[in-house]
Amino acid sequence: MTHKKLIVGNWKMNPATLAEAKTLARKFKKAAAKLVHTEAVICPPLPFITSCAGRLTSSGKLNAPHFHMGAQVASTQEESGPHTGEVGAHMLRDIGVEFVIIGHSEQRKRGDTDLVVAARLKAVLDQGMTPILCVGESVRDESGAYLDALKNQIKASCGDLLKKSAKSIIVAYEPIWAIGAAEAMKPEDVYETSLFIKKVFADLFGADMGLKVTILYGGSVTYRNAPDIIAVGKVDGLLVGRESVNAPGFVEMLKAVDLVG
Ligand code: 13P
Repeated sequence: MTHKKLIVGNWKMNPATLAEAKTLARKFKKAAAKLVHTEAVICPPLPFITSCAGRLTSSGKLNAPHFHMGAQVASTQEESGPHTGEVGAHMLRDIGVEFVIIGHSEQRKRGDTDLVVAARLKAVLDQGMTPILCVGESVRDESGAYLDALKNQIKASCGDLLKKSAKSIIVAYEPIWAIGAAEAMKPEDVYETSLFIKKVFADLFGADMGLKVTILYGGSVTYRNAPDIIAVGKVDGLLVGRESVNAPGFVEMLKAVDLVG
């Protein structure tokens, strides 16, 4: 993964219209073009992806600088066929998607088990895209049982992978209690938990992977708290919900994080 910071906008089921989606994407593309230390990724709802993307060049790459497309889901089905309602990872790759969010707590809540998450992850990796694997505890207890929960979630989603595949994974640490909340997790706690995730990766895949794994933080990130979460939390980037469909807020966040250097 790049040593640049990665700011990923998870638009969820927003905005309501294609026209609004295009406007957001146009503004973010423009802001991303000025970035030096940061890459921006937007993950619009599936019907809007192609209209929000930069143009595909003849080499199959998108032509907007520092601006990448992501998707919010990929099917567990790896081949085209009779799978009503499913969208294959190969189809996403074909339209220029580079990143796919996997295992978001909102999808786990609707029924994605660790096994399903692992299958989606594999489908995305098999297509050469980068999965953004979301993990996070629902509550923080005094005794630290949440750390075991976190470790088990990571093991169950990607523990069976070969090291060479695991290298491509981005982990998004999203404590469920901080999603859609009034405040983000304290940057000091983000730092502590990211160290724990690195240790889990080191135990699973070898010491070097603990150092190399890319970790994002998500949960009530705004343009105001983003620089501290990056600087003090020492994460490689952010997974942003509400502020990613607020044009001035997301543009400001890209600028502010880029200044952290
Ligand atoms: P909010 O930034 O709205 O809290 O959402 C976080 C999230 O779920 C990103 O995936």
